[in-house]
Amino acid sequence: MKQFEITGQAGKSKILVGERLDHVYGYLPAGARLVIITDEIVAQLYGDRLPAGERIVIGTGEAGKTLETASFIYRRLIEMEADRGVFLLGVGGGIVCDITGFVAATYLRGVGFANVATTLLAQVDASVGGKTGVNFDGYKNMVGVFNQPGFVLCDPEMLQTLSGAAIADGFAEIVKHAAIADSAFFELLEARADEALARDPALLARIVYESVAIKADIVNRDEREQDERRKLNFGHTLGHAIEKTAGLSHGAAVSIGMAAAARLSVKKGYMPASEAGRLEGLLARLGLPVFMPADSEAVVDALARDKKRRNDAIHFVLLEGIGKSFVVPIALAELKDLLTML
Ligand SMILES: NC(=O)c1ccc[n+]([C@@H]2O[C@H](COP(=O)([O-])OP(=O)(O)OC[C@H]3O[C@@H](n4cnc5c(N)ncnc54)[C@H](O)[C@@H]3O)[C@@H](O)[C@H]2O)c1
Ligand SMILES: [Zn+2]
Repeated sequence: MKQFEITGQAGKSKILVGERLDHVYGYLPAGARLVIITDEIVAQLYGDRLPAGERIVIGTGEAGKTLETASFIYRRLIEMEADRGVFLLGVGGGIVCDITGFVAATYLRGVGFANVATTLLAQVDASVGGKTGVNFDGYKNMVGVFNQPGFVLCDPEMLQTLSGAAIADGFAEIVKHAAIADSAFFELLEARADEALARDPALLARIVYESVAIKADIVNRDEREQDERRKLNFGHTLGHAIEKTAGLSHGAAVSIGMAAAARLSVKKGYMPASEAGRLEGLLARLGLPVFMPADSEAVVDALARDKKRRNDAIHFVLLEGIGKSFVVPIALAELKDLLTML
């Protein structure tokens, strides 16, 4: 087990990588009244291994990541007469973790909380950075706050029960972290992609650790350098547009977005084609798509509507090589041309 201390804008947090669910008792604040927030699937799979305490079970799916679900939790907490001494433990994927953090920040102006991150995506991405929140009127993560959990426990054994699609979603963010900042980690993934796919628990724990280290480093440096955190958007500018238009999962869309950004880096002369080939090769081996969906016109239209667009230029993350990224503004018109040439 490896512990990670993270100091974010909203306080300190501990990430426990490779720790077992059964050890969660040892990290809970003594004497607090525990309320567990989880979803139906996780409750069914792991319900009998969760600590004793009251439970609030929410439905699954992005459509339920709403203020209505937060209200449902507030109501249950009020019915339970939970006061400021309550401690909320979210047990689930990114949705449960994001909602638990949001409810913990707002119920009675803030109560203690922690998460057990049960998906690969939640362990490598949602666990770091203190972002919490819900969707609103169809806009993702529109309403939320920064709120650091007391700890995030990441048990690699819990990843064994995930669907293949959920594992692939996590791998997309892991490859992103390696590609933007750590060539040695990228080489490890290239060398051991098959074992990773076979969910070797020790390897998954190491991969989660390396990935968390990269994100934590970038998030910590962000207070000084705005561009640093933007690097975490690698593959995401196009990815979000593809997700919306092609109806792909987040990870699949980001994978295509990363492959396209790598090809763009080659086309603009920043990176040799062989490096883009390595990125595409690794993504494909991990079961992720790398080609733009047929309707690239619609993708470009969605891109133009992207909320991050300013003065017709988009902050795009490109690569100079595996492990070396930089942010460059690209005019929307130029991007359109480049994309149609990919
Ligand atoms: N806060 C952040 O910084 C951050 C970062 C990335 C993503 N997110 C958010 O995370 C969400 C996506 O997270 P996700 O991919 O974990 O989705 P999710 O929470 O919907 O989990 C995916 C599915 O897996 C099931 N599941 C969870 N753990 C399981 C397990 N151990 N075994 C079997 N099934 C399990 C869930 O019930 C769900 O059906 C999005 O809402 C996104 O906005 C937040
Ligand atoms: Zn993402």
